[in-house]
Amino acid sequence: MIQTPLLEVTGLSIDYVLPHQTKRAVQDVSFRVYEDEVFGLVGESGSGKSTLCFGLMDMIPPPGRITAGQVMFNGHDLLALSREELRQLRWSELAYIPQGAMSSLNPVARVYDQFADTIKDHEGKQPRDQVQQRICEALEQVNLPFDVARSFPHQLSGGMKQRVCIALGVILNPKLLLADEPTSALDVISQRVVLEMLSQVRQNLKASIILIGHDMSLQAQVADRLGILYGGKFMEIGSTTEIFNNPLHPYTQRLISSIPSIHKKLNISILAQKGLSEAEKQVYLNSTELREVRSGHFVAV
Ligand SMILES: Nc1ncnc2c1ncn2[C@@H]1O[C@H](COP(=O)(O)OP(=O)(O)O)[C@@H](O)[C@H]1O
Ligand SMILES: [Mg+2]
Repeated sequence: MIQTPLLEVTGLSIDYVLPHQTKRAVQDVSFRVYEDEVFGLVGESGSGKSTLCFGLMDMIPPPGRITAGQVMFNGHDLLALSREELRQLRWSELAYIPQGAMSSLNPVARVYDQFADTIKDHEGKQPRDQVQQRICEALEQVNLPFDVARSFPHQLSGGMKQRVCIALGVILNPKLLLADEPTSALDVISQRVVLEMLSQVRQNLKASIILIGHDMSLQAQVADRLGILYGGKFMEIGSTTEIFNNPLHPYTQRLISSIPSIHKKLNISILAQKGLSEAEKQVYLNSTELREVRSGHFVAV
């Protein structure tokens, strides 16, 4: 089956230009996200996940800048768009749930108004009952009652707030949803609920999701494919099944073997609990090519 890529990233590099040095946070990264799939972007803190995510929206905060590469999204050459074209595309085709999204909700506005403003911003003024209907449906998608619309953010639990953020992200029916660590601030039970909601929303919308996180076992529950990022480069990309059954890169093997429930099952019990040695880091950072070793399974060499 030939799948159409919704997003095709080629040779993307992103630098932070600091007074005395330039830090390359994303290094010559290429990957695709297909229609109707969840792509899990996994990596430890500082591996470049958020920077890559900002890059996909041409929204790198200073002193960061894109130094090379192309981002094709749904027929648009994204990095060539004007600011206004980009603004239109965001939300409507490409929605973003920022890291720490819950705190990005306006504390002094009712949930209803935050939805209504988003709709008005992008589609102009609409009849009141139509707006209300859409907000009701968006909340329903994440299993929240319409009552929630009348609340202020502080009246909701963390899990509910995160579900409001998801509903807000999808109110304009985007084709791709970028969710940066949507569950990292939640307790274990809410994490699972929020991930299930994301999965459900994706199915209803027939959208794709790039799900960013550092917890590989959590990601594996919802992601169709995984990309393992280290030092701003992909170490491995493949289907979730393939990555778990046949992890090829030593870094991926480490990540998997550090998952407690899997640890005993797999025969790759390496020094998972220990940090990476300097020599290992150098090998990972010096890889120059992402090689397709089996159909759809790529590994850094
Ligand atoms: N505003 C910034 N200025 C300078 N360096 C930054 C900035 N933001 C991120 N970085 C650096 O870029 C790298 C990737 O960071 P980030 O994308 O936030 O990683 P992650 O989201 O995976 O934790 C890190 O080394 C980080 O220190
Ligand atoms: Mg981050």
